[in-house]
Amino acid sequence: MTNPTALELIARSNRLGADPKNTNYAGGNTSAKGTEIDPVTGETVDLLWVKGSGGDLGTLTEPGLAVLRLDRMRALANVYPGLDREDEMVAALDYTLHGKGGAAPSIDTPMHGLVDAAHVDHLHPDAGIAIATAADGEALTGTIFGGRVVWVPWRRPGFQLGLDIAAIKDANPEAIGCILGGHGITAWGDTSEACEANSLWIIETATGYIAEHSTTEPFGALLDGFGPLTEAERQAKAVALAPTLRGLVSTDSAKVGHFTDAPEVLDFLSRAEHPRLAALGTSCPDHFLRTKVKPMLLDLPAGASIEDSIARLQELHEAYRADYQGYYDRNAVAGSPAIRGADPLIVLIPGVGMFSYGANKQTARVAGEFYLNAVNVMRGAEGLSSYAPIDEAEKFKIEYWALEEAKLQRMPTPKPLATRVALVTGAASGIGKAIATRLAAEGACVVIADLDLAKAQAAAAEIGNEDVAIGVQANVTDEAQVQASVDAAVLAFGGLDLVVNNAGLSLSKSLLETTVADWDLQHNVMAKGSFLVSRAAARVLIDQKLGGDIIYISSKNSVFAGPNNIAYSATKADQAHQVRLLAAELGEYGVKVNGINPDGVVRGSGIFAGGWGAKRAAVYGVKEDDLGKYYAQRTLLKREVLPENVANAVFVLCTSDLSHTTGLHIPVDAGVAAAFLR
Ligand SMILES: NC(=O)c1ccc[n+]([C@@H]2O[C@H](COP(=O)([O-])OP(=O)(O)OC[C@H]3O[C@@H](n4cnc5c(N)ncnc54)[C@H](O)[C@@H]3O)[C@@H](O)[C@H]2O)c1
Ligand SMILES: [Zn+2]
Repeated sequence: MTNPTALELIARSNRLGADPKNTNYAGGNTSAKGTEIDPVTGETVDLLWVKGSGGDLGTLTEPGLAVLRLDRMRALANVYPGLDREDEMVAALDYTLHGKGGAAPSIDTPMHGLVDAAHVDHLHPDAGIAIATAADGEALTGTIFGGRVVWVPWRRPGFQLGLDIAAIKDANPEAIGCILGGHGITAWGDTSEACEANSLWIIETATGYIAEHSTTEPFGALLDGFGPLTEAERQAKAVALAPTLRGLVSTDSAKVGHFTDAPEVLDFLSRAEHPRLAALGTSCPDHFLRTKVKPMLLDLPAGASIEDSIARLQELHEAYRADYQGYYDRNAVAGSPAIRGADPLIVLIPGVGMFSYGANKQTARVAGEFYLNAVNVMRGAEGLSSYAPIDEAEKFKIEYWALEEAKLQRMPTPKPLATRVALVTGAASGIGKAIATRLAAEGACVVIADLDLAKAQAAAAEIGNEDVAIGVQANVTDEAQVQASVDAAVLAFGGLDLVVNNAGLSLSKSLLETTVADWDLQHNVMAKGSFLVSRAAARVLIDQKLGGDIIYISSKNSVFAGPNNIAYSATKADQAHQVRLLAAELGEYGVKVNGINPDGVVRGSGIFAGGWGAKRAAVYGVKEDDLGKYYAQRTLLKREVLPENVANAVFVLCTSDLSHTTGLHIPVDAGVAAAFLR
C-alpha cells in the first residue's frame, strides 16, 4: 500500500505538471518527507520521497519516485568532500535508499533532502526563469517578492546547491522559496498544500509583475521584411527547406525533425533584437541540453528565395559547426567526454517558423517546446531588464558533465530503423498495414497514406501516437494528393527515407471481359501511382543527401503468366520494371530501389475480401475460407503467406544488412517455381 505522504506528493506533482506555465515538459522535481515503519526493526523511520531521474511531473506515478532514508541522506553532509568532488555524492546516494529505493535518485535529490522543510518543489516556470536570467535578477527578486523569496546565485545542480539552498532557508526563516539564478525556482512548505500554494504564488507573482512592468516591445521594433508569411506560404517554404536542412543537421548523426510556426516564434523572429538574443542561447540546464547552447538562425528576410535561403543555410551550418567546435575546444579539459556532434538542434527561419531536431520525434518535438519556453523566458527578462543567461563555460560544464555522459551511455541502443521516416501507401489495410506496423516497431516514424483519411488515421493510431505514426489521405492516382502526402511526411517528421509503393487493387478478368475502365483503374493506381509517389519522394531524398529506400510491392504476377489477369499482371510488370529503371537512375544519390513479389496473401487482404478471393476460390473449386490453405499447398514450402512475411522482407531491405543491394526483387510466395526470377 502506498504511503499517504507519497500519494499526496504524486497528486501535487500531477497538478503542478499539468500546467505548462509551472514547468517545462519533464522539468523540475518535487519531494515530501514522512514516516513509515521499518520492516526490519518495527520502528518508525523518516523517509524522503522525491521524483526520480527522468519522467514528467504531470504523469508521475509511484514507480517514478525515489525513496531514501532521510537521516542517512542528510548524514552525507558529514562526508561531503567539497565542490570539486561533489559528483561522488551521486553514487553515495545509493547507500541511503530505503528498501529497493524506487526510481534512480536525480541530481536534484540533495536539494530536496537537505532543505529543512517537509515538502519541496523545484520547478522551471518560464516566468520564474525570466527573473532568474534577468541581468539584475537579484535586485528584481527583492523588488518583486519583498523578502518572501530569496535569490540564490547560479550554481550547477548538485550537492553544493542543496547545501546553499538549505543555508539560505535557515538564514531567512520568513522565506517560502528562492529564485535559482540562471535556472528556475524552488519553494517549500510544512504541508503539501502550503508548498503547492507557495510554488503557485511565486509563479503567479512573477507572471503578474512581468505583465505589469514589462516594456511594450521586449524584443524591439518590427523588422521590415521579417514578419510572418501567410500560412500557406510558410508551409510551402518549410516543405521546400526541410529536406536540405535535415541533411545538414544530420551531418554527425541522423535526426528526425519537428516544425512549428507558433505565433511566439514568428513574433520573436520579426523583431529587431532577435539576432542578438538568439546568439545568447538558452539558460535553464533543461533547456539547453535539448536545444544545444544556441540555435542556428537564418539571417535573411521572410521573402528570401528558396535558392538563396538554401545557399545561406549551407554557409551558416558550416559556421555553426566551426563555432560549436570552438566552444568545445575552449572549454574541454582532460577527461571531458568527446564532442557529441556539432550540428544545431534548433533552426530558426524568419517569417516561416522553427525546425527542431532529435534522435526521435518526441525528442525533436520537446526540443522545439523548450525553445518556445526559452523565447518566453527571453521576452520576460528583456521586458524587465536584459536577458543574461549563464555563460558558456557553465553551459559546457552541464552539457559535458560526467554524470550527463553516464546517463547517455546508459540509454538503450537505438532500434535498427531509428531516425528513419517511412511513407507507406495503401497502408490502412492488409500488407501495407503490416509493413507500417513492422517499420514502426523497428524505430521508424511512419506516414500511412490511403484513400480514406479516417481509415488511415485509425491504422496510425493502432500503431502508436503521433510521434510514431500519422495517417494522411492520398489517392495515389492524383499528382497533387501524392505531393501533399509527401509534404505532410516532411512537415511531420522533417524529411523522408523509406518509401513503400504498396497501394493497389485487383480485378480478376479475362481479356474479353476487361473494360478500358478496368485497365485504366489498375494502371492508374499501380503503375502511374507508384511513379507519382517515387517522383515526389525522390525530390526529397535527393535534397536530403542521406540516401534512402524505395520499395515496390509488386507481385508474383509480374513474371507469372496466368489466365484472367491481363490488366493486373501487366501493371505489376510495369511496377517491376520501374524498380530496375529507378535503381539505375537513383543509385548516384545513394537511393536503393527494390521490389517484393508476394503471392497468395489472403489473410487481412482487402483485395481478397473484396471479391477477388471469392472469384479465385471459384476458379480453383475450393471454399473461400480455405483459399489460404489451398495456395499454401501449391507452394514449394507448403506454407501460407501472411502480410507479416511481406513486412519482414521490407524491413530486411531497409536495414544496413542489405546496404549494397539495389534493383532486386524478393519473392515472398513460399516458393512458386513458375515465378522464379532469372
Ligand atoms: N494479397 C496478395 O496476395 C498480394 C499478392 C501480390 C501483391 N499484392 C499487392 O500488395 C499490395 C497490397 O495489397 P493487399 O492484399 O494488402 O490489399 P488491401 O486491399 O488489403 O490493401 C490495399 C490498400 O490500398 C489502398 N488503395 C487502393 N487504391 C488506392 C489509391 N488509389 N490510392 C491510395 N490507396 C489506395 C486501399 O484503400 C487499401 O487500403 C497491392 O499492391 C497488391 O497488388 C498483394
Ligand atoms: Zn532544475
